[in-house]
Parts: sequence; C-alpha cells; structure tokens
Amino acid sequence: MDYQTKSEYVESLVTPCFVGGFYQKRKLTPSAVMLDARLDGLLEKLLKRDDIEGKPGDVLVIPHTPLEDIERVILVGLGKKEELNPAAYRKALAAAAKALKDVNAKQAVSALPEAEVQGRDFAWNIRQSIETLDASLYRFTDCKSEPGNHKTKLNKLYFLVNDETALAMAKTAIEQGRAIAQGVKLAKDLANQPGNVCTPTHLAEQAERVGKHHKKLKVKVLVEKDLEVLGMGAFLSVSRGSDEPARLIVMEYSGTAAKTPPYVLIGKGLTFDAGGISIKPAANMDEMKYDMCGGAGVIGALLAVAELQLPLNVVGLVPASENLPSGTANKPGDIVKSMAGTTIEILNTDAEGRLLLCDVLTYAKRYEPAAVIDVATLTGACVVALGRHPSGLWSNNEELAAAVTAAGDTAFDRVWRMPLWEEYQEQMKSNFADVANIGGPDGGSVTAACFLSRFAKDFPWAHVDIAGTAWKSGADKGATGRPVPLLVQYLIDRTQ
Ligand code: BES
Ligand code: MN
Ligand code: ZN
Repeated sequence: MDYQTKSEYVESLVTPCFVGGFYQKRKLTPSAVMLDARLDGLLEKLLKRDDIEGKPGDVLVIPHTPLEDIERVILVGLGKKEELNPAAYRKALAAAAKALKDVNAKQAVSALPEAEVQGRDFAWNIRQSIETLDASLYRFTDCKSEPGNHKTKLNKLYFLVNDETALAMAKTAIEQGRAIAQGVKLAKDLANQPGNVCTPTHLAEQAERVGKHHKKLKVKVLVEKDLEVLGMGAFLSVSRGSDEPARLIVMEYSGTAAKTPPYVLIGKGLTFDAGGISIKPAANMDEMKYDMCGGAGVIGALLAVAELQLPLNVVGLVPASENLPSGTANKPGDIVKSMAGTTIEILNTDAEGRLLLCDVLTYAKRYEPAAVIDVATLTGACVVALGRHPSGLWSNNEELAAAVTAAGDTAFDRVWRMPLWEEYQEQMKSNFADVANIGGPDGGSVTAACFLSRFAKDFPWAHVDIAGTAWKSGADKGATGRPVPLLVQYLIDRTQ
C-alpha cells in the first residue's frame, strides 16, 4: 500500500473514494461538511434515514454518488466529540479499513486525520491510519496452495492536508507509519511461519536478508561452535535436545558515530517450544511456534530503524533455538553453567527462555550499551496477571521504565510495570546450584524477570513479557506484530 498526502480543497477534490468522519449525533467533521455541500446535503440525509448515530465503528458506505468527481463515500462514526480517545479512534479506523477493503476503488482520500483525538496530534492520527489499514489488509498465505481472493484493489491512500506546517508533520508521520508497518509485517510473516519452516537457521537467513538491503545494518550469525567458545552453557543446553542447530543472530545498525553507546534489543527466538522433557500439554501446543515473537519483533524493529535511518546505534540480538524432548535434552535437575559463570539448576525444562536470555544479556555487556531491552514470550503467568492488552514491563532503571511506558502509550502498544523486588529472589534458591530456573507457582512472570535481572546488573535494563500480546488465539489466530511499534517508538523518542 502506498501512502501520500494530498493538498487539495474538498470543493475541487476528485477521487474514486472519499473517507470522512462524523461525531455523535450525525455531526460531520469539517471536510465531510464541505463534501456534503457538494452533495447537496445527501450525507446528512442518508445518516438520518438509516438512523446511524455515529458511535465509534459505525459506518455508512455510499457506493455511488451523483457526482462524477467523487465516486464513492465512506463515512465513519467517531463517537462523541469530547470523548474521542485513542482507543475509540483506532476502532473507527479499523471500521474504515474494513469498508475500504471491500470497496472496489484503487485509490482513496482520507480526511480522518482531521479528527481531534484526546492528547494526540495530526501526525499520530496519520500514523495510526497507516498501521491500522496495513494490519487490516494483512493475510498470511505462504502455506496455502490457493491464496484465495482476499486481494483488495486498493493500492493508494491519500491523506488530505491543507496547510504547510501540517504537511511537514504529515510527511514524517507517513515515513514513520510506513516503516513501523513494514517492521510489523515482517515480524508477523516470520512468526506465522510454521515451526518446520521457521527454524533457527531460517530465522537467521531472514535477518541476513534484511541486512543485505540496508547499508548501515550488518548482520552476523553465530553458530553453536561460537557459542561454546563464549561459554554460553545455559543457551546451548536448551538447543541440545533438538536436531536443529542453535543460532545467535547479531544485527548491528550504525546510524551515528561509532563511539556512541548503542541501544541493545534482545528477542527470545524459540522457533518451537514443546517444553522439553517437562513437556507441555497437547492442547494448543501449535501456538508455541509463536515463541519466537520476541526475536521476530527485534528483527522487524531493526528493519524499521534502518528504513528510517535513525541517527542512533542499535544492536539486535536474537538467540534462536528449539526446545524439544529427546535423549540429549535437558533433564529436570540438570545443572548448567551460564556465560556469566552462574550455575543454574534446571528444575523445569519448560522455563527455557530465561536460559537463552541470561547468556545473551551477558553477551550484551560487550557493547557498553546505553540501555538494553529484552522482549520475550516468557511466561504464561504474565497472561494470567495482565491479560492480553498490555505487555508486562520490569526494569532496574526508573528513567528507562518511564521511557518504555511512554513509548508504549504513544505507539498504542502498551506496557504495564511490574515489581522487581529482591524478596522474590528467595523463590529461586537451589540446594545444588547458584540459582534454580523456576521460582514455584507464585508470581511466575515476576520470578522469571528476577532471574533475568541477575544477569543485567551492568546497564539500564528493561524486560518486556509479550506472552499475552504477541499473537491472537482462536478464529483469527495470528501474530500481532507487537512489540515492533513499542520498540521503534522508544528509539524514535531517543532521537528527539
Ligand atoms: N514460551 C513459554 C511461555 C508461554 C506459555 C507463552 C504460554 C505464552 C503462552 C515459556 O517458555 C514457558 O513455558 N514458561 C513456563 C514457565 C514455567 C515452567 C515456570 C510457563 O509459563 O508455564
Ligand atoms: Mn517453555
Ligand atoms: Zn518458551
């Protein structure tokens, strides 16, 4: 989909499809008012006749207008003007996207960014319009023999912009929206791929492909031999149970002076998590192909950063492995030695994510990072604690926690802070090693974060548990592309 601005007055606009908004009750937004004048009041009349009030998500589609220059009109409800918050606006955008998809036009002009959304600006409205439409058009058909006829004719969306300052804002917003949408799409494509296709090797190849297209992005892939030399005994113990070799994907984006400390993003990349010897129940186990969503999110975020050419240094680290039961797999009670030297008693082989992440957190030290953020589908307990709206956030640094929270609010990819208190560490005492890899049934997402914190003492660090947000189950099962918007927003904010 191509997105552009259009600086034209509604009075003289020509388009196969106009998308406008109306508030409750039937109060048209300024551009829609002007359009209605050209249509001799048809819009108001039709809204009244169909008794459409204008709740967020209400839609009126006029497939043929009497005008030659404006062939179709889609009007979307925005709710009460004083109550138009980001969530309501996104609902309206989703409804607009659905209507646009079904309409037979190749191009459309949207006036929806002119709506006044609480605490947001014109640029935000445009970005959300792009992200919502892209998400709505997304289909994963790689594995279907017939892709089906979901294809929409629509290939270009213009945003109506009528003054100079707004035009500059709109252009930046379009660039950012496009880059984030691209990163989200890549993350979804990687995650939706089945486990027999998306192996650690495949994931690494896809990261390398992204690197080939961007001059400032260098991608190297460490293999098991390299990990052995580094002493990553925790990480390697997980992949030992699988025939697919592990990979550590290293993506280095250089957008500014080499000496500037980088932001390091780490993404859990379990291309399939059966639990290992502590095997998971059969129901819904297919969804554990999504256990690499953190890794996919980091690769997607680096793609977006490279597209935007942000003036920062950013490193993406993705430990990729399978977690399967076999004769060589970790067994409960096994003790492994991490790269940091800490010995870990594996009381549950299904708590494997932290075993990969702890070694990669240690690896991150070599970058002397400005901050480290890890993103991981780490615990089912996080979904129990917070549900599926926010991701969980833990951090050892107040400033970083505030920045990540703010980025989540801006990008509407929200996080909710959780405690990282010393008291929880007690739950991971081991009789035989320095630490156990589980902390019992209480506060499972917190003890997982506390485990990681032991390996993140040398830099500002945030951990984002995306177990509840990275994919959807049920009828529209599929990856969401989160936390790409969060990560990219955090980095955009660092350039200001
Ligand atoms: N990948 C899972 C976490 C997960 C489970 C995410 C379900 C989303 C949905 C992780 O590796 C895991 O298995 N965690 C265990 C930890 C437990 C053994 C301490 C869990 O959450 O049950
Ligand atoms: Mn697991
Ligand atoms: Zn896992």
